[in-house]
Amino acid sequence: MSKYFKAKTVDNISLNKHFRLLNLSPLSDIDIPQPGQFYMLQAGDTYDPLLKRPFSIFRHEDNSLSFLYRIRGKGTLSLSHLKSGDIINAIGPLGNSYPEPHGDFIALAGGIGIASLLHLLAGFKNKAYLFYGARNKEELVMLNEAKAISKESFITTDDGSEGEKGLITDSLMKFFNSLPITHYPLPLYACGPTPMLRELSKVVAGKDIKCYVSLEEHMACGVGACLGCVIKTVSGYKRVCKEGPVFDIKYIIWE
Ligand code: FES
Repeated sequence: MSKYFKAKTVDNISLNKHFRLLNLSPLSDIDIPQPGQFYMLQAGDTYDPLLKRPFSIFRHEDNSLSFLYRIRGKGTLSLSHLKSGDIINAIGPLGNSYPEPHGDFIALAGGIGIASLLHLLAGFKNKAYLFYGARNKEELVMLNEAKAISKESFITTDDGSEGEKGLITDSLMKFFNSLPITHYPLPLYACGPTPMLRELSKVVAGKDIKCYVSLEEHMACGVGACLGCVIKTVSGYKRVCKEGPVFDIKYIIWE
């Protein structure tokens, strides 16, 4: 099945001043996306590469695809102008996916990183210990939806406007400290800003824990051709869009 397709905009809902939810209906058959995979979406001028942006799949139901996004830059601004009935170019699903959890797991989301993890939470309802942090209450987008399908949730904000004040990685550290020493049985899935993931790499260092991170690197082509998304790993440079976006955290060289 071709990964290139056109889709019709069903709606493009404003959730608050930062975030929107775009619901699309593909105009042809598509492959079923797995949690962690992403799509390249392009609204507007098809010859402007700056308008093509990667978006994690947020929800897939029957013949609809949903994407949660934050308006930031030219690509997302052009996406925010889409109206019901508008046609958009899409490529996907792209990249690898989160390994399937067998039993309970930990999901760690920073800000818009929740978009990628919600698809995983929805597939494994009430199995996740959710750790979700953001700068403030407004940026904890889809918080109630995420809590409703999680086993237990731990929330932090930088300014203390929701949950505990502080970093979500500190909250995770406290959780680990409450477990028997050297006994960390739950796999961990994380998506969020690089500083959070770098901090996470320190939290899990030396612990016997499987930790998978989805990287949100800048991508231009999304299909492995431009090398604009390479990261350094223990086995050389890898393309986030092609060999990722999901990697074992211990495989990445954090600089
Ligand atoms: Fe072009 Fe990854 S975005 S190689």
